[in-house]
Amino acid sequence: MSTPIKILGISGSLRQGSYNSAALRAAQELAPAGMTIEIADLSQIPLYNDDLRKNAVPAAVTKLAAQVRAADALLFATPEYNYSVSGVLKNAIDWLSRLTPQPFVGKPAAVFGASMSLFGSARAQYDLRRILIYLDVHFLNKPEVMIAQAHERFDADGVLTDVPTREFLGHLLTALHDWTHQLKPRSHI
Ligand SMILES: Cc1cc2nc3c(=O)[nH]c(=O)nc-3n(C[C@H](O)[C@H](O)[C@H](O)COP(=O)(O)O)c2cc1C
Repeated sequence: MSTPIKILGISGSLRQGSYNSAALRAAQELAPAGMTIEIADLSQIPLYNDDLRKNAVPAAVTKLAAQVRAADALLFATPEYNYSVSGVLKNAIDWLSRLTPQPFVGKPAAVFGASMSLFGSARAQYDLRRILIYLDVHFLNKPEVMIAQAHERFDADGVLTDVPTREFLGHLLTALHDWTHQLKPRSHI
C-alpha cells in the first residue's frame, strides 16, 4: 500500500467563525482513505514588505513555505471579498512567490469556497486559479464546489451539516486524490 497523500489546506479567512475554515475541517473528516489534510495558519503572516523579506523572512512565512513544499497537494478554501480572493490569502501567496525555490511550483491543487451569496465564492475561485497560473500550480478543473448561502449550511458550532454539500466536498477530495496520483509518479507518494 502506498503512503497517504499529504494535503495542505489553506483557508483565506482568519475569523474564528469562518465558513471556509469550517469547511476545511469538514474536509479533514471527509478525506478518503489514503489522504491526510493538515490546515495551515495564516494568522501570523505580516503584510508583505520587500524590506522585511531582504532583512529576514518572517518565521510564519518560512513555516508556511515548508508546509507547502512538504505537501503532495494543496486544498484552498477561499472566501470572496469584493469579487476576488481575500487580502489574507493573496498576501500569503505573494510572500511565498518571492522565495527561492518558489514553493508552489508544480503542486497539484483544488479550490472550493464558501460565501453568503448565491455565487458561493465562484468569482474568487476563478481569480485564485488565474493568480496561481503564474506560480505554476496545477489546479483540478472539476468538480467545482461553490458553497452558496453558507450561513444555511453550517450549525452554530461550525459543523458542515448540509448533506449535499458534504457529498460535493467528498467528490472533490476523491478527485484531488486521483489528480495528485496522476501528476506525481507513484513512487514519490
Ligand atoms: C470585505 C468583504 C467583502 C465581501 N465581498 C463579498 C463578495 O464579493 N461576494 C460574496 O459573495 N460575499 C462577500 N462578502 C461576504 C463573505 O462571503 C462572508 O463574509 C463570508 O462569510 C466570508 O467567508 P468566511 O466565513 O470564511 O470568513 C464579503 C465580506 C467581506 C468582509
